[in-house]
Formats: sequence, C-alpha cells, structure tokens
Amino acid sequence: MSSPIRIGIIGQGRSGRNIHAEFLKNIPEKFTIAAVSDFLEDRCERARKEYGCAAFQDYKEMLADKSLALDLVVNASFSHQHAPISADVMNAGINVLSEKPFAKTAEEVKELIGVSKRTGKLLAVFQQSRFAPYYRQVQKVVNSGVLGEIRLVKIAFNGFARRYDWQTLQAYNAGGLYNTGPHPLDQALGFIGRDITPNVWCKMDTVCTLGDAEDFCKLLLSYPGRPTIDLEVCSNTNFSPYTYLIYGTYGSLMGSMSHIDWKYYVPEEAPPIKLIKEPLPGPSYCSDKLVFHEEHWDVPDEDKDLFNSMAARFYNNLYDALTTGAALAIPPEQVLQQIAVIEECHRQNPLPVKFQ
Ligand SMILES: NC(=O)c1ccc[n+]([C@@H]2O[C@H](COP(=O)([O-])OP(=O)(O)OC[C@H]3O[C@@H](n4cnc5c(N)ncnc54)[C@H](O)[C@@H]3O)[C@@H](O)[C@H]2O)c1
Repeated sequence: MSSPIRIGIIGQGRSGRNIHAEFLKNIPEKFTIAAVSDFLEDRCERARKEYGCAAFQDYKEMLADKSLALDLVVNASFSHQHAPISADVMNAGINVLSEKPFAKTAEEVKELIGVSKRTGKLLAVFQQSRFAPYYRQVQKVVNSGVLGEIRLVKIAFNGFARRYDWQTLQAYNAGGLYNTGPHPLDQALGFIGRDITPNVWCKMDTVCTLGDAEDFCKLLLSYPGRPTIDLEVCSNTNFSPYTYLIYGTYGSLMGSMSHIDWKYYVPEEAPPIKLIKEPLPGPSYCSDKLVFHEEHWDVPDEDKDLFNSMAARFYNNLYDALTTGAALAIPPEQVLQQIAVIEECHRQNPLPVKFQ
C-alpha cells in the first residue's frame, strides 16, 4: 500500500466533491486525490483544476488506467449504482469505500462480501455517523449502567422538507430510509444488538416529496430481552424535540446532536417500598420519594464541526485498516443486518412506482 494512499472518487456531487474530496484534500500526508470520475464534463474539469488530478467521464476508464496506481476508490455515485460499481472496483483489483446505502438488498451485500473475499480487496461503507460524538456519548451513558436496563430507544432524524431531486425516486434506491436511514439505523442496531435479526414493523408514506419514494418512515424493532427501538425518518415535522430519547429502569436520557441530559435514581439510595393490595389510605396515591441525579453533556469544541469530526474518525480507521490491517469499525457483515431491515421495511410498504 502506497502512502499517501492514492484515491479515485466516482461522483463529484454533494458527497464525492463536497464531503470526500474537500475533506481528503486537507490531509495530503495520508491521502492523495489521484483521479475522479463524473458523467458531467464540467465537474471533471473543476476537479482537474482544483485537485490537480486526472478526471474521467467513464469510471471504467479510471479503473483501467494502471498508471494511476489507485489504492482506493470512493464510490459516491447514485445510490442504485453502489453495489454494481463497488463490485467493478474490487474486480479491478482496487479497495472500495462505498457511500451509503451500501446496496438495495441483503442478497447484494452478500454478493459484495463474496467479491471482497475472492479478490482480497477491502470493502468499506461510509457510515460516518457511527463515529458521531453524540452517539458515542449516549453509548457511554447507557454502558455505564446508571439508567439501568434500557427498555426503549427512540431516535428521530426528522425535519420538514419538500425534496425534488433524484433522492426522491425509488428507481435510484432513494427515499428517506435508504438515504438518511443508514445513519440512525446503524446507530440503533448498536443498541438492540448487531448479532440478531430483529422483528420489524414499519410504516412508510409519501407526504411532501415530488418523487415516488417515501419521505415518512416510522420503524419499530424488537427482539426478546433487548431494548425496543422506535426510529423515525420523517420529512414532515417542524418540531424535533430530540434526536435520542431513552427509557431505562432507573432513569432516562434525552438529547440532540449537541446537548444531552440524563436523569436517574440510584437504587441503593431509594427508600424501601412494598406492594399494598388494599386501597391506599385516605384515599391517596403512591408517593415514592426518589432523589434524581442529573447530568449533562455538551459537544466539545473540537467536535463542534460534526461532519469533520465524524469524517476524521472514519478516515483514520480506514487508513489504519488499509495500512496496518486494523479491523474496520464497520465491517460489511454488520451492514448486511441493516440492509436486511431496510429491505423488510420496503417489503411491508410497497409504494407505487411512478418514475423510472
Ligand atoms: N454519508 C453521507 O453523509 C452522505 C451525504 C450525501 C450523499 N451521500 C451519498 O452519496 C451518493 C451521491 O449523492 P450526492 O448527494 O453526492 O448526489 P449528487 O447528485 O450531488 O452527485 C452525484 C454525482 O455523481 C455523478 N455520478 C453518478 N453516477 C455516476 C457514475 N456511474 N459515473 C460517474 N459519475 C457519476 C453525477 O453526475 C453527480 O455529479 C448517494 O448515494 C448518497 O446517498 C452520503
């Protein structure tokens, strides 16, 4: 593996240019943007000028050009092209980082894992929200045990938007769950467990979108003995009181991406109570006197640029995986579970296909 790692980027749009290239150009000691590919010639030309790299309208020409000595290709093409292009990249003998969604179906993920094993090429997915500081903090609180056993994890990635681009089209593997969903769903699966196939209930609908893919998604995941997950990716609410709301047996947590509060009682400090079957005297209501401890977290200054902080941690792990053989923080086998859940959500909600 060369160092810096030589990168090709397919797609020069909001992801390929604005996220990946703009981030990678700032760490030349680790990564060199050697080439890009985009259907659009003006985007190729801009990359030649801005990054001093080679540029191709046909990504297959980029993969075939051995003089580029590419170590890694970032696949930031349209979502429905992710799986076939990732396979093409590995078959060309190059490691691949696919944008989310990794694929449309669990079967496609299995095929990609097969290509990765056969070619010996690294297969990674850009789900940078695994490294989000607020998610790490929520995990820290949950793992500390102060909230007791976690019974419900509510996650809301909501807003109000009338989208009208290709990310509204089923033919492009778009809609809220394939597009935004991989971020909160990857986090959610960390709470219910990455080792199981959860029960899925999902309601999808089209509300404000101009396309035919859902922009309203309510998803419940359950499994015996595990926390229930209640996840929303909806484009029709102006109110977002929380990103996370967690119910435990000793307390609860509520937080956004920049601030989190949690509140709990300590069982050893609580006064003893006993069950009374007879009507309470008076009559009266139960009057348990619990003392709650309150704690707070604010995103640290160094993580205030959320995107950079997530991308930096993601790319550090990818760099280590490529240069030292370190384990990927998000192995493709974990993404298989996520795509299987998304596939089941769509199976339960067949929406009419209106555009090809
Ligand atoms: N991880 C994240 O936070 C994040 C953020 C934004 C987008 N994305 C993902 O990135 C992908 C691209 O989304 P976007 O918002 O950048 O779209 P976009 O429309 O802004 O850009 C896509 C670009 O890729 C080019 N392109 C598409 N297929 C190509 C191909 N086969 N060969 C060459 N060029 C090709 C298009 O011409 C366009 O310039 C999507 O799958 C999306 O889900 C991820």
